Amino acid sequence: MAIEDKIKELMDMRAKARLGGGEKRIESQHKKGKYTARERIDLLLDEGSFEEFDMFVSHRTVDFGLDKQSYLSDGVVTGYGTIDGRLVYIFSQDFTVFGGSLSEMYAQKICKVLDKAMKVGAPVIGINDSGGARIQEGVKSLGGYADIFQRNIMASGVIPQISAIFGPCAGGAVYSPALTDFTIMAKGTSYMFVTGPKVVKTVTGEIVTDEELGGASIHASKSGVTHFAAEDEQEGILIIRKLLSYLPQNNMEEPPITSCDDPIDRLDDALNQIIPESPNKPYDVKDVIHSIVDYSEFLEVQRNYAPNIITGFAKFNGAPVGIVANQPSYLAGVLDINASRKAARFVRFCDAFNIPIVTLVDVPGFLPGTAQEYGGIILHGAKLLFAYGEATVPKVTIILRKAYGGAYDVMSSKHLRGDINYAWPNAEIAVMGPKGAIEVLHAKELNDITDDAERVKFISEKEEEYKRKFATPYVAAKYGYIDDVIEPRNTRFRVIRALQMLSTKKDTNPPKKHSNIPL
Ligand code: HXC
Repeated sequence: MAIEDKIKELMDMRAKARLGGGEKRIESQHKKGKYTARERIDLLLDEGSFEEFDMFVSHRTVDFGLDKQSYLSDGVVTGYGTIDGRLVYIFSQDFTVFGGSLSEMYAQKICKVLDKAMKVGAPVIGINDSGGARIQEGVKSLGGYADIFQRNIMASGVIPQISAIFGPCAGGAVYSPALTDFTIMAKGTSYMFVTGPKVVKTVTGEIVTDEELGGASIHASKSGVTHFAAEDEQEGILIIRKLLSYLPQNNMEEPPITSCDDPIDRLDDALNQIIPESPNKPYDVKDVIHSIVDYSEFLEVQRNYAPNIITGFAKFNGAPVGIVANQPSYLAGVLDINASRKAARFVRFCDAFNIPIVTLVDVPGFLPGTAQEYGGIILHGAKLLFAYGEATVPKVTIILRKAYGGAYDVMSSKHLRGDINYAWPNAEIAVMGPKGAIEVLHAKELNDITDDAERVKFISEKEEEYKRKFATPYVAAKYGYIDDVIEPRNTRFRVIRALQMLSTKKDTNPPKKHSNIPL
């Protein structure tokens, strides 16, 4: 065969592979409001940067008539490319081929990508759109899943792993995204569940739709399984690109620093007034975040899950940080089970990838009650405590208002190796709030007062005295637990100076196989 003919054969095979399961199935994919596997790659990566692996792979199963049904690429498109000029590895499941179901060879393709990403040290993005294990392949498919899981586990904390869910993701297939660092779901077209609505109905009698059981909104608000619920695939892809802009390529690198024109000494007078006079009045801590970070840009992670704590990425003078902030405008910013789990995982991610953590504290304590105690708030709260205490990245903390009880300790306090701990003048740092404290300290006297008016007067006097003595930042500052009391409007500058000073910080934990975080 002449070389021209051989090249033509190559081009024909490439064209065939690019068609996946064929025109009709591509059309049906589009009708569902979904892009194809290859279109998604084109949208996500820098134009023309994609290099494909294993286009000519096909399955080797003969059962169930599969010997007569075979597609080049076998249902998953894999390779590498760049995002904003930085290398990423990618696999994108092709629903047009056997419903994107996973075969032995398909799993091998994904494993190859994960192995390469680990050797080179670059993020992996997986786009999921699949009917799960390829039924005709039986245990080979199950084994293939486990081979991927094992690699996800080994890659955890070494390279960032991001999962987009842009279609079905059911059964054991959900565990690969669950093992990765971030998941992004598209509203209306994606769902994740261990067992689908039919099985749920048989086993529990519950009647639910795909969306109600495992849609993007549910996982973004109720379960916390997904970190981002995008309006559609396009927005999901933009989120992935944005997210990567804060992350290093691997755990041996620093996060990428970009140039910044936002003045580091920009003052915001509004911050001096943001804390309401009454200690029980809420305000939106996101206003503080937007005010102090570069260009007010904040990529919030798990926005609708446990909104009593805010987590997300931002930059200070071009350098990425993770922000954790109690949110007084939701449940008074109390720490509960979900907030503790959410923030603990975020802190650990930042620590694994050398991203400094800035913590904004306004927390009345842990949420009391049987629901929380029976649910194990002790263990879940300990997760956050553990995560902060174990983290060796630069940790800058600002107490905006309340830091009461155990929550004072937990929220990146000096005692948990907080590097720079500042407080605003409004800060109240104490074992508990004035009301509770007076009830304990003066229980006997309160018992003896029978007149209601006298009782109210006594409590209010004692509360005032308590606030003057304990509910200020100066007692903590006196002991060096607070490095300085700062003017709120100057917070951006003080945080940037602290982060600059800490940029070469080194800290270590004792050698061990791994810690035993209270799971
Ligand atoms: C082989 C599959 C398949 C599968 C879908 N297809 N799932 N082929 N193995 N698991 C094929 C269909 O036969 C069909 O082929 C094409 O993909 C599209 O499927 P449709 O059903 O027409 O699409 P749709 O109506 O959109 O429904 C999508 C779906 C449904 C909800 C995903 O196909 C479905 O329920 N599939 C089975 C899901 C499942 O039970 N998987 C196993 C889960 S257990 P044609 O030729 O008609 O285009 C599991 C274990 C993993 O995954 C364990 C890991 C530890």
